[in-house]
Amino acid sequence: MDPALADYILENRRLVDDALDYYVPNVETEPRVLHEAMRYSLFAGGKRIRPILAIASAEIVGEDKTSVMPLAVALECVHTYSLIHDDLPSMDDDDLRRGKPTSHKMFGEAVAILAGDALVTLAFEILSSVELARVFPCHRILSVIRDIADACGSRGLIAGQVMDMTFEGKIADESVVERIILNKTAALIKTALTSGARLAGANCEQLDVFSKFGQKLGMVFQIKDDLLDLEGDPEKLGKAVKKDGTRGKATYPALYGADHSSKLMRKLLGEAKKLIEPLGQRAQTLCLLTEYVGQRIS
Ligand code: IPE
Ligand code: IPE
Ligand code: MG
Ligand code: MG
Ligand code: MG
Repeated sequence: MDPALADYILENRRLVDDALDYYVPNVETEPRVLHEAMRYSLFAGGKRIRPILAIASAEIVGEDKTSVMPLAVALECVHTYSLIHDDLPSMDDDDLRRGKPTSHKMFGEAVAILAGDALVTLAFEILSSVELARVFPCHRILSVIRDIADACGSRGLIAGQVMDMTFEGKIADESVVERIILNKTAALIKTALTSGARLAGANCEQLDVFSKFGQKLGMVFQIKDDLLDLEGDPEKLGKAVKKDGTRGKATYPALYGADHSSKLMRKLLGEAKKLIEPLGQRAQTLCLLTEYVGQRIS
């Protein structure tokens, strides 16, 4: 990885982790098992890609990273909730996540479901807190709340998860696979970028760039995830591999094979990088992050 990007990621992961620790109730808070479960998944070691994307877009528009930390935390809470529920026996039925037993393995299904519910609720509590309203105009915060609700709701991430399940073991063409990915993964990634930019006061042209770029990056992100399921190292990934084929998931590798999917991913990655060219030198980190998403091994 580019050393400048490695430093950027490390610094921001630390800031996000500190902010998560600040905003998420501690394990002494009743009901203890619930807060323990929320923290267990949050601090199991995620890459923090979505918060980092929100920070990067806010910085490009000219905002200081510390003021968007509540947004970064909210995005990671929503994402972590989606992973806890994705791993449930009734969904992907996975035993390992972020290198540790999944939430339902540790705490049982009921607490895992409730920890997920509590994380998504906490995200909206943080976004609507006075702390954020002291720094940013309320109309910007309201738009961000609306965007995140859309991205993770029944026409976004949850729609994608429903389609992902519905098409298990069924014949799916490219348009179906694309729709699944756009909803289950790209919607939140896109919104991480647009919400960081929105809070920072981005204009319509800038928001349009982040939105189009985010959608492509989200596609790249999920195709890479699907390729890693085929070819990745479970130790490095912290989750099981070769499960998508067994479950008959509708993915690009299932449709076209690994080689063609990899080429397609590189094509989308190139298009994504082109989209942020108008942002100039300020988007250099975002450009490096895009390359990283396509090359990552975890
Ligand atoms: C995994 O997301 C779920 C997908 C959308 C593919 P990440 O790969 O960002 O998972 P963490 O947060 O690093 O664990
Ligand atoms: C998950 O996709 C997408 C969401 C959690 C919304 P996957 O099911 O492929 O993610 P992993 O491989 O379990 O991380
Ligand atoms: Mg899944
Ligand atoms: Mg899964
Ligand atoms: Mg996967």
